[in-house]
Amino acid sequence: MEQIANIKTISIIGGTGALGTGLASRWARAGYRIIIGSRQADKAVNSAAALHKDLPDAAIEGLQNRAAAAAGDIVIMTVPFAHQRPTLEDIRSELAGKILIDTTVPLVPPKVARVQMPAEGCAALIAQQIVGENVTVVSAFQNVAADLMASDTEMGCDVLVAGDKLAAREVVIQLAEQAKFKAWHAGPLANSGAMEALTSVLIFINKRYPGSHAGVRVTGIATP
Ligand SMILES: NC(=O)c1ccc[n+]([C@@H]2O[C@H](COP(=O)([O-])OP(=O)(O)OC[C@H]3O[C@@H](n4cnc5c(N)ncnc54)[C@H](OP(=O)(O)O)[C@@H]3O)[C@@H](O)[C@H]2O)c1
Repeated sequence: MEQIANIKTISIIGGTGALGTGLASRWARAGYRIIIGSRQADKAVNSAAALHKDLPDAAIEGLQNRAAAAAGDIVIMTVPFAHQRPTLEDIRSELAGKILIDTTVPLVPPKVARVQMPAEGCAALIAQQIVGENVTVVSAFQNVAADLMASDTEMGCDVLVAGDKLAAREVVIQLAEQAKFKAWHAGPLANSGAMEALTSVLIFINKRYPGSHAGVRVTGIATP
């Protein structure tokens, strides 16, 4: 598979978790070098080793989050909302000039099936505020079910991609498509609010219809 120019290494901050592990395996299969980031280096190394068992030829390493952020040509963060700020404050000095893909959904337990948006508007805008203008935040993957991602099949759901810079959105769309999603430009970073809110709706649907892994699919597009 043809890789995106200038992107060889993808670092996943909080990559030991559900979403990070799923994305890691898909991008590793697509030929990228993957760095799993964790607060604890040994946890990252173990997580990388576990992925290696299924993908022995893949380049997957584990590092502490800040070192992982430094090593990535592009960085994606997959940590719960409650830990978004401290995690970004920890790694932001390593992100200058890079794209940061933020996946954060501002869930406030225990009522995770209820939309509860932050005063700042949405999690992606908070991320941009924390990392500053020399980092390009692009928001994506809020509406995917991590537990469907372990296999190598086409995902039956779409990814909405929001960000203020068209070229950066395009990079993330290509990465999502290499992970076997259909992905769409969904407008400026502020539009991430709608994507983040939708996740609580999907969680509600999953609770109402047990066994479901609800996602979204965009229809009616004239020119893909
Ligand atoms: N799971 C899904 O299906 C899904 C789908 C769409 C979007 N999302 C969003 O993606 C993000 C990650 O979701 P997830 O389900 O992958 O989360 P998760 O598995 O619960 O956690 C991901 C990682 O976050 C790190 N973490 C936990 N507590 C932390 C703390 N106090 N400070 C810093 N890091 C901490 C952990 O890494 P270390 O212990 O290794 O540091 C953990 O492995 C969330 O914002 C979620 O809303 C999830």
